[in-house]
Amino acid sequence: MAEKKRILTGDRPTGKMHLGHYVGTLKNRVQLQDEYDCYFIIADLHTLTTKPQKKYIGELQENIRQMVLDYLAAGIDPEKSTIYLQSAVHAVYEMNLIFEMLVTLPRLSRLPSIKEMARNAQLDEEAVPFGLIGYPVLQAADILMPRSHLVPVGKDNESHVEISRELARRFNKYYGKVLPIPKAKIGDVPTLVGTDGQAKMSKSLNNAIFLSDDGDTVRKKVFSMYTDPNRVSADVPGKVEGNPVFIYHDAFNPNTEEVDDLKDRYRTGNVGDVEVKKKLAAAINTFLDPMRERRAEFAARDGYVEEVLYEGTERMRAIANETVQKMKEAMGLSQLWGWIESGKK
Ligand code: TRP
Repeated sequence: MAEKKRILTGDRPTGKMHLGHYVGTLKNRVQLQDEYDCYFIIADLHTLTTKPQKKYIGELQENIRQMVLDYLAAGIDPEKSTIYLQSAVHAVYEMNLIFEMLVTLPRLSRLPSIKEMARNAQLDEEAVPFGLIGYPVLQAADILMPRSHLVPVGKDNESHVEISRELARRFNKYYGKVLPIPKAKIGDVPTLVGTDGQAKMSKSLNNAIFLSDDGDTVRKKVFSMYTDPNRVSADVPGKVEGNPVFIYHDAFNPNTEEVDDLKDRYRTGNVGDVEVKKKLAAAINTFLDPMRERRAEFAARDGYVEEVLYEGTERMRAIANETVQKMKEAMGLSQLWGWIESGKK
């Protein structure tokens, strides 16, 4: 049997995951688990790019636990896929350094994603650390470490996968073909709007519905959602396109008949926001119910998250060492050490 192609993707452990993560990438990950060999990274080193202080490192353990529970709840199966902790894989520090030589500073500094991360962390230009500029290089090291072919990510990470492609191409050009050229795969809803109508659902913007929210919390959040601002009462025709409530209906309500009916009546001024939101809250809760159940089950299993991470990290270490070894051989660095080793008495 031909070897399966590989996927690598993952997240910074910043806390609980939300619906935006689900439609942007989690859904793809779960669906591709059988077809690909999957590696999911808990990218704790990436959190250091904006939060290097010890107090933030102290928050990582709990965040990592929550994130792994979200993965498992969403349907990532550790029997099929590898979930691992980035900082515990030594090879990534080495690969990062090698890749740093193969990309220019202007190429990285121009990326809007880096500027956005600096802005979110309230860092002005003078305060941006070297490591934040290098964020996509470290991400490329992650992606290329298991020599992955496909990277399911949200739209905001697309430019970083592009950097990985450039680095792989350059590496191969200088040293010989060692690395595949990975491709990004963006989810059905590349960027999900927030409950407040802002372009992006995000924990830091306080406009997210979390996969682990309970039924009441979801109802409250849905009832506080933005709709068509020009529609002052239920008998005024409203706009469906770009309306967050309908974007969510399309993404999470599988009952397309119900959704089409609501849209028709909304357009003609024959339905109130309350009915639209009630049905949306119910649909999201039905969608989340099985995840809540699985989450509770896994959370109750003592030591399970640790076991998943331990085994995953060990698996990643093996394949990572193999890749770095191939790279150093291609570069001629192993041969240098081989020469020096002849001096061993
Ligand atoms: N940049 C991702 C985020 O936005 C996290 C990440 C780190 C990642 N390394 C990766 C994603 C490799 C995909 C592949 O949180």
